[in-house]
Amino acid sequence: MYTENLEQNPPHFSEAEETTHFGFKTVAKSDKQKMVANVFHSVAGKYDLMNDLLSFGIHRLWKRFTIDCSGVRKGHKVLDLAGGTGDFSAKFSRIVGEAGEVILADINSSMLEVGREKLRNLGVVGNIHYVQANAEALPFPDNTFDCVIISFGLRNVTDKEKALRSMFRVLKPGGRLLVLEFSKPILDPLSKIYNFYSFNILPKIGEAVVNDGDSYRYLAESIRMHPAQNVLKTMMSEAGFEQVSYYNLSAGIVALHLGYKF
Ligand SMILES: C[S@@+](CC[C@H](N)C(=O)[O-])C[C@H]1O[C@@H](n2cnc3c(N)ncnc32)[C@H](O)[C@@H]1O
Repeated sequence: MYTENLEQNPPHFSEAEETTHFGFKTVAKSDKQKMVANVFHSVAGKYDLMNDLLSFGIHRLWKRFTIDCSGVRKGHKVLDLAGGTGDFSAKFSRIVGEAGEVILADINSSMLEVGREKLRNLGVVGNIHYVQANAEALPFPDNTFDCVIISFGLRNVTDKEKALRSMFRVLKPGGRLLVLEFSKPILDPLSKIYNFYSFNILPKIGEAVVNDGDSYRYLAESIRMHPAQNVLKTMMSEAGFEQVSYYNLSAGIVALHLGYKF
């Protein structure tokens, strides 16, 4: 559970200090990373179970479509950024084979630990490495990866522009970025049902299963604060990506953005 009680302990930031969003709250930029960390330390143990419960298993279809769009093949080097419990790493490890390599990178030690344990149990060893890293400052040389994937991670990053530039830097020329993320539903009636579900049901399931409604309230709020499809497309272009496009999945509840480094 993220333990910070913002009502009793309002965040202190001077007028000069830069602020950002943590869900619907305005917080000092320097505080957001710690608050996001607390969310994922809290939910790590039940993250996979909650993904299946909250999306009715549909996240597996979004992820399968993303892999189909990745262009990843034998011998490729792939960065699964904000990779958490490693769903993509497991699949990419099999696709790239012994000649390739997958790096599962995440800022959060609890998520990485759950991911490492899960992949070991699945027999995913040999061509996979685990790195604790911040998406904003990736500890890899320029032009390293054929593909970078960030799935349901960008929303949580404090400085998204900086992170996109960092991903651009570590991609090889010809490489591809995939951003799978919650987005803006394109059907009005669906938005109403989705809003009711997100703000009323989702935190209750979080409370019942993980004993942490707050983290799932943050999930709902952070989804609303995340840039819409076209805004993210522009942000990717501004970071240097070319031929940026996106697919709406489940009527825009989720979008997959693709961009290339040439
Ligand atoms: C919702 S989980 C997504 C996990 C996985 N990619 C998936 O699709 O199931 C978001 C992950 O982003 C990670 N994360 C948040 N901020 C990050 C940052 N600045 N750099 C790297 N990882 C970050 C969290 O620790 C968490 O594991």
